[in-house]
Amino acid sequence: LPHLSSLLPPGREPPRMSPMVEPLSWMLGTWLSEPPGAGTFPTLQPFRYLEEAHISHVGQPMLNFSFSAFHPDTRKPMHRECGFIRLQPDTNKVAFVSAQNTGIVEVEEGEVNGQELCIASHSIARISFAKEPHVEQITRKFRLNSEGKLEQTVSMATTTQPLTQHLHVTYKKV
Ligand code: HEM
Repeated sequence: LPHLSSLLPPGREPPRMSPMVEPLSWMLGTWLSEPPGAGTFPTLQPFRYLEEAHISHVGQPMLNFSFSAFHPDTRKPMHRECGFIRLQPDTNKVAFVSAQNTGIVEVEEGEVNGQELCIASHSIARISFAKEPHVEQITRKFRLNSEGKLEQTVSMATTTQPLTQHLHVTYKKV
């Protein structure tokens, strides 16, 4: 599985999934936005974007993720983030950590219930010269819908706007 790591031991592919992450196993896979994602915010013109989501594990009790967004016409790379999703042992409590190319790093926590994960930011750090307005709060919902597609909805509050939806995207497994 060269896309995971060329250093993983051979002859045992794929790595056996940790039972710890079984409640999140519905998120695993490579997913492509279909239709294109929809961006909104009170200060922005509505926009569309393409996004690839790669959610994997290497046998550890956590998931690895990367989300890579592209302009729908030019395919120019846009927002990117990657990180980890962990479950607290013996609970449905989830922690999500993400580093974003915009210079912010965030921790979100919440719960998984069935095939739905709802999380909200606990802390957000940013580089000293991050673009304004700054993000003050982030919430996300992931769910597997009845058609077997993954959906992500992201809301945010900034220094100028209350908590409002910024993104909604449906992904098809590839
Ligand atoms: C603008 C945050 C993900 C596309 C913004 C703004 C913030 C922000 C704070 C400025 C809003 C304003 O000016 O009032 C975030 C956060 C994200 C995220 C925290 C993830 C958790 C994405 C993704 C895309 C995207 C996946 C897809 C392409 C844009 C665009 C703008 C924007 C096009 C307007 C132009 C610009 O400021 O670059 N975002 N964003 N964002 N975001 Fe996001």
